[in-house]
Amino acid sequence: KAEPPLKIMISGAPASGKGTQCELITQKYGLVHISAGDLLRAEIASGSGNGKLAKEYMEKGQLVPDEIVVMMVKDRLSQTDSQQNGWLLDGYPRSSSQATALKGFGFQPDLFIVLEVPEDILIERVVGRRLDPITGKIYHLKYSPPETEEIAARLTQRFDDTEEKAKLRLKTHNQNVSDVLSMYDDITIKIKGNRSKEEVFAQIDTALSKMLQQRNNTSPSS
Ligand code: AP5
Repeated sequence: KAEPPLKIMISGAPASGKGTQCELITQKYGLVHISAGDLLRAEIASGSGNGKLAKEYMEKGQLVPDEIVVMMVKDRLSQTDSQQNGWLLDGYPRSSSQATALKGFGFQPDLFIVLEVPEDILIERVVGRRLDPITGKIYHLKYSPPETEEIAARLTQRFDDTEEKAKLRLKTHNQNVSDVLSMYDDITIKIKGNRSKEEVFAQIDTALSKMLQQRNNTSPSS
């Protein structure tokens, strides 16, 4: 019997490793990775009015207004691939109003993952981050350096990845985090994010395998 696909949210401070873990989770579990930040950056790249407005908030490390973010995420979650394969939502919700809106549309996660990383480490992760525009892969000059010279030469940096902007993003995160966490208390797992990316993934992998196993055990026709 086919189980319903997994629905997961992943949360954590700026540069806590959400995107990095999402690469590893999707590789193993085949979920559709939906990143609110990536959707917004695609909107900016399209040159739309919403994109221009979003960029003003992102430059200041503030939350982009719900009018723009909520429908964007809802539309992506509603697409066939997300519905069929399950989804991994990254960087949403970031406020109780965003959580409530999604719930109103009938999207409820099975699991809420929180990556916990001490603040002093986050800034170093932000300023060393680089992105491959061709593969979308996330690198770090020190912790995940590019595999070849060719990749190294084409790496780019995000416009909000300066120390100053990262501190603003962190401030916004700290203002909102407890509101969001309180809405998913019963399905939350906290992961120690201050370890190598493989060790962080091992913790997540264990939690996901356990959850899938429990599902199979309780499934009536298994
Ligand atoms: P978004 O793009 O989501 O940025 P963020 O939350 O600040 O998170 P990051 O993407 O910076 O970090 P990450 O946790 O994915 O870390 P990564 O894996 O890359 O949002 C950007 C902006 O968009 C927001 O400020 C806001 O304005 C707006 N926005 C987004 N969502 C919104 C919403 N819902 N509502 C309103 N506005 C919204 O890792 C970071 C670095 O560390 C990398 O270089 C990586 O290689 C390295 N690294 C990762 N793991 C490890 C490890 N274990 N050890 C060593 N290094 C590691």
